[in-house]
Amino acid sequence: MAFSYGLTPHGILPDIAHDEEARERFVFSFKEKLLGELTPANRIVFQSQAEPAYRKAHGRTPRDKHEVAEVMERQPFWQMFSSLHRTSQELMWDTCIDRCERQGDELEERGRRLATSNRRKGSLRLKPDLEVPRYIESLDTHVQPGGYYAQRNGGFDLHQGAVYDTGVHLYFVGGMGPMSDDMGLSGVAYLKQKYPDLKPQRILDIGCSIGHSTLPYCDAYPNAEIYAIDVGAPLLRYGHARAESLGKKVHFEQQNAERTDYPDGHFDVIVSHILFHETSAQGMPKILKECHRLLKPGGIMMHLEVPAFDFELPTAYDRFQRDWPGRYNAEPFWSTLHEMDPKAMAVAAGFDAKKTFIDHASRPNDNSSTFGPRAFQWFALVGRK
Ligand SMILES: C[S@@+](CC[C@H](N)C(=O)[O-])C[C@H]1O[C@@H](n2cnc3c(N)ncnc32)[C@H](O)[C@@H]1O
Repeated sequence: MAFSYGLTPHGILPDIAHDEEARERFVFSFKEKLLGELTPANRIVFQSQAEPAYRKAHGRTPRDKHEVAEVMERQPFWQMFSSLHRTSQELMWDTCIDRCERQGDELEERGRRLATSNRRKGSLRLKPDLEVPRYIESLDTHVQPGGYYAQRNGGFDLHQGAVYDTGVHLYFVGGMGPMSDDMGLSGVAYLKQKYPDLKPQRILDIGCSIGHSTLPYCDAYPNAEIYAIDVGAPLLRYGHARAESLGKKVHFEQQNAERTDYPDGHFDVIVSHILFHETSAQGMPKILKECHRLLKPGGIMMHLEVPAFDFELPTAYDRFQRDWPGRYNAEPFWSTLHEMDPKAMAVAAGFDAKKTFIDHASRPNDNSSTFGPRAFQWFALVGRK
């Protein structure tokens, strides 16, 4: 098993050398400083300089995030903060890419062994001819070179998955926990509390990436068959190998969530974790329609997202501050999604308004691990068919 600074080891995690760990520690503390100290200072810049400048020019305060952006983007402090933040993203991927490339062949070999082991519990179904949506295929999402989709070779390529696994830990500055599963644990805690009698036969996780959030559902619902879909084959290869090495039974399949090949009413529960902001204004309604088709009557969908919807944030400045990824991090749907009404979209997709609601989900407090107190309060769109 490989050891990695801050992450629980598993059988496909790339090893980390001394200098790689030093670089990761630098990126980690750089991001801590940026997010912990510089982010709040921007509010002071807005209140003391940008807002008065806007008021002088327009006779009123900025009304929405776009008007706040007009003045903040001219502030040297914001320019420095944004430039450092973007640099921290690029450094993060560079560091993780070097670590994964150094041991690329060995990782492929390990992945192949885990995927074909006689002791394997789950499965991997890939569709080389799958048509991948443009919002994934044409983009280096989060400025990760190659984004979610790039394939490097014709072999057992799992590079994008390895980079994603090591990168997410730095991206969230450890806040996702040593298994990067804060969202899955939060989703499970929510379902257990809200629907204590739920005994699902089949659960589907859509946009699973490498299955960080999928695995907690295996532990919480041991009698259910767990399916996890994504469009990126290297992510799925890595996710399958990771799950097998951890003894978790998951069926990973390469499918576009807009139109899968599962029959109607196949699932009791459908979940997703920060999927929607990576889709598009055309893709998201199709995915919601597909959820409705795939759920059994009485089935439940629960989509967790970053809590950044405009209607939940108190001021135009807060909406602007949360909009950073939409402006500078290669996430083109981020800004538009957060201006939309996800409940109305679910209702338009066929869900009953009386059984569809917005809520919030978080992991129960657990001070016993290095994970520390709960980190995130996730936005939840929940609907019952
Ligand atoms: C932010 S990642 C999700 C992270 C993951 N759910 C987790 O909790 O760790 C978004 C994922 O959604 C996938 N995705 C986006 N659109 C999709 C679609 N139409 N069908 C299937 N997967 C999609 C992307 O390839 C990417 O892996």
